[in-house]
Formats: sequence, C-alpha cells, structure tokens
Amino acid sequence: MKIDILTLFPEMFENVFSSSIIKRAINQKKVQIKIHNFRDYSKDPHHKVDDTPYGGGAGMVLTCQPIFDCVESLKTKDSKVILLTPDGIPYKQGTAYNLSKEKHLIFICGHYEGFDERIRSLCDLQLSIGDYVLTGGELASMVITDSIVRLLPGVIEEESHKNDSFNNNLLDYPTYTKPRNFRGMEVPEVLLSGNHKRIEEYRRLESIKKTQNRRPDLLEK
Ligand code: ADE
Repeated sequence: MKIDILTLFPEMFENVFSSSIIKRAINQKKVQIKIHNFRDYSKDPHHKVDDTPYGGGAGMVLTCQPIFDCVESLKTKDSKVILLTPDGIPYKQGTAYNLSKEKHLIFICGHYEGFDERIRSLCDLQLSIGDYVLTGGELASMVITDSIVRLLPGVIEEESHKNDSFNNNLLDYPTYTKPRNFRGMEVPEVLLSGNHKRIEEYRRLESIKKTQNRRPDLLEK
C-alpha cells in the first residue's frame, strides 16, 4: 500500500512513523508513506496557501490551487482521496478494514480556520476521528494511518487483530499474564483451566459484559 499525506506541517510527522510496528511495516515494504508539503505546489510568488474568507469572518481559508495541483500530481486510477475534517463521517474500525484493502490513499490535512469548500470535490471520502476540533487534520491522518497499517497482511499476526475491540460491535475481552496473583488480584481460574471451550465462552461473555457497561450503543447495532 502507498499512503501520501498532504500537510503544511511535515515536521509533525517526523517521529510518528519511525518507531514500533509502523516502522517495521515500512522497513518490510508493506507500506510506503510519503509526506508532502502542499505549500511547495503554490503558484503564488510568496507561496501563499490561504486567503481571507469571502463574505467576511475570522481566520484564513486554505485555497484550492496548491491542494488541487498536489493531489492531481499524485493521483492514479487506484487512489482514494480522503479529507480529514471535523464535519466528516465518523471514523470506525470498519472503515479501517475497508481502507486497508486499498492500493493508494491520499490524505489531505486541513489547517487554520478551514478550507475552500471546493476542495471537497477532490475527495472520495471525508473523515472525522471524533466530535472535537483539532488544530488541523495532521493528528487525524496519523491516527487513521496507524489503524490501517496494523491491518495490512503480515504487519501483525492476524490472530492479534481478529479479536480487536469493535469487531462484531464488541469491545475486546480482558487479558492477563504472569504472575497468577499480583497484590492479591487473581487471574480468573478459567484461564488456567486449559479448557479451550470454557475459555472461549468466558471471553465472549466478558466481551459482552464490558460492552454492555461501557458502550451499550455498540450492542444496539
Ligand atoms: N481536523 C480538525 N478536527 C478534526 C477531527 N476531529 N477529525 C478529523 N480531522 C480534523
């Protein structure tokens, strides 16, 4: 998979993809991630990328030209162009699965007060990572990239994400490791029983109980 991220702040990405699982995925060529400063595409003599809003109002608005030119230079028939915006569709694990099947993703990170509405016409998808407003789409693109890359074949064992929270609209079951007793807190006996059928039943029940407690909205689905 190829991922291109368009931003005015490439330095924000410097350390994010250079550790742990994402770094390994890049080194193993499971994914290629490139960061592009769309200011480099500005045809303005001063490399301006924003302007005041028509109709008045606070702040600056990102202009069409640099983002259109940057996307058009990267886009192929296999590309999906995605805008990060707080008014986008809520991003969910199901979207992560669908996007992990794509060949090429292009993320556009908005910033400042907003972007010219016509930039939306470039996009196949507009995503929000939650009901709060960030200073820009950069953190959202990092979150989404991370959640997609871990699902790419061979990046982590399939067994590890088969039971992820949100699969089948359930939160993940609790896990334990050694020691059996830590400060009086015992590992549930069933996990020591070696009885795989009982363990599976226990985990499913715990998953449902946890979801009922914390995220009843998921069960309603
Ligand atoms: N840009 C600013 N806030 C955002 C959010 N919540 N999700 C995606 N992009 C954003």
